[in-house]
Amino acid sequence: MSIRTLVHVIESVPTSDGAGVKLRRSLGSQRGLHVDPFLMLDEFYSDNPDDYIAGFPAHPHRGFETVTYMLDGRMRHEDHMGNRGDLGPGDVQWMTAAHGIIHSEMPQQSAGRMRGFQLWLNLPSHEKMKPATYRDIPAAAIPRVALKHGGEAKVIAGTVELDGNFIGGPVNNSEARLSTDPLYLDVHLSAGEIFSMPTTAGHSAFLYAYEGSAQVGAAGAAKRLPHRAAGVLSDGDGIRIEAGPEGVSLLLLAARPLREPVVQYGPFVMNTREEIEQALADYRDGRLAA
Ligand code: CO
Repeated sequence: MSIRTLVHVIESVPTSDGAGVKLRRSLGSQRGLHVDPFLMLDEFYSDNPDDYIAGFPAHPHRGFETVTYMLDGRMRHEDHMGNRGDLGPGDVQWMTAAHGIIHSEMPQQSAGRMRGFQLWLNLPSHEKMKPATYRDIPAAAIPRVALKHGGEAKVIAGTVELDGNFIGGPVNNSEARLSTDPLYLDVHLSAGEIFSMPTTAGHSAFLYAYEGSAQVGAAGAAKRLPHRAAGVLSDGDGIRIEAGPEGVSLLLLAARPLREPVVQYGPFVMNTREEIEQALADYRDGRLAA
């Protein structure tokens, strides 16, 4: 097995989005800072309601998928299709904006901790104009696997071989719409614990350490993944992670790259400028989410 090496670290930077929600952005913090097909990763984490209370009022998306994963706190999603979902700790919302969606994501609390992630996952050109779909995935539907060498992994999307067993997440590859074949894991390791798993060669992969840090790569050649940074992995058919002295909690993402041009304008991600202009015109004329 060729173990993937850590080839690039993308530090997260503080920014704000929506109506002023404070967050840290790693992927997507600069133009072109993508891991094809992953476009953006935001971490929001605050105990101060001033940092999140304004939420994300109604806004559009076209051309990709947004995946929200809550760790703490409560958010309500509402969209133009009449979908409404309350996200609580451990819940996931997988929204395929495709042709267009207009939605809001608003906190359902005025105090306490709000913590979670939003990931943007690109769609191939032939799926960018499909009808939008949306699904809520309750925490209870996400398999939690106790690992043989210590630690735990939650499988949110894709199918992975852990300690010889194949574990499928609630969002899985058999769904035709997921042509990027995404794998989304949340892995928790105590200090010094070692996690390894096979991955599909040719798929892009990155990690995001949201608690602690880790050493990533083959024993003796591992490199450090710092706290609150994304680590981009080389190609290979295996991943090996050794938790740092404080342990580590990290997101592990992998998917089939699209290798298509990316033209992004705010919440619209298409392949050409003309398609962006069309998205703006459609939004202006009320056709985006028609
Ligand atoms: Co949104």
